[in-house]
Amino acid sequence: MKLILLGPPGAGKGTQAKRLEESRGLKQVSTGDMLRAAVHDGTPLGLEADRIMKAGKLVPDGIMIDMIAERIGQPDCRRGVILDGFPRTVRQAEALDAMLASRSQGLDAVIEMVVDDAVLVERIAGRYSCAKCGAVYHDKTQQPKSPGICDVCGSKEFKRRPDDNPQTVQARLQEYYQQTAPIVPYYKQKGLLRQVDGMAQVDAVTRQIEAVLEGL
Ligand code: AP5
Repeated sequence: MKLILLGPPGAGKGTQAKRLEESRGLKQVSTGDMLRAAVHDGTPLGLEADRIMKAGKLVPDGIMIDMIAERIGQPDCRRGVILDGFPRTVRQAEALDAMLASRSQGLDAVIEMVVDDAVLVERIAGRYSCAKCGAVYHDKTQQPKSPGICDVCGSKEFKRRPDDNPQTVQARLQEYYQQTAPIVPYYKQKGLLRQVDGMAQVDAVTRQIEAVLEGL
């Protein structure tokens, strides 16, 4: 199965992708996580991506298309993938179609998570994650069961993303509406688009996504 989770920054793509990994045995492929790993490793791509991400802009299409083409060909993606953060432009969407077609594959669904802007800003402002395993939390809505201890790996270290600040969030939202929103009609026209109410609580969003997948 090949799914896209589509939505603006803070819509809950990463949160739901991790749940689908566990429930469906699919692989989460997050371009944001891949870029952050490159930044952490200090590669030439990481140095370029760091500057672009901190400005809330998009990394050039050619770089992202090559990155995904290489990633989805790896063995851990054979059982299926959840694309989280890709595609982000019509050019990326077209390139994805071409790379899947060249492997005689296609997308099963594009699930758009719809959330109001004010809620997105609130979610991003409160987001933090485990420094060891990356599990995502929120200051108000999703705290670890035992305060200060990661539910998943037991680590006591947490971190916040450098692009989760008020100025960068506004730039990221602007990029989303200008560059990414046009892929909604692109997939609608192909009959692949499904919408879920991303404003609902995390469990309720998961149930909506599972219902979409059952209906495929
Ligand atoms: P990326 O890492 O993809 O970030 P994003 O799209 O901005 O999305 P986020 O990770 O911020 O949000 P999310 O939807 O995953 O929400 P989450 O589940 O964490 O990209 C970062 C940057 O990399 C881009 O700006 C760009 O520069 C570059 N980039 C990446 N891909 C690219 C591409 N293809 N092309 C070009 N450039 C690219 O949830 C957010 C918070 O809300 C959490 O705290 C969570 O606990 C909470 N939460 C989640 N769901 C709910 C809920 N239902 N109710 C209440 N709280 C919730």
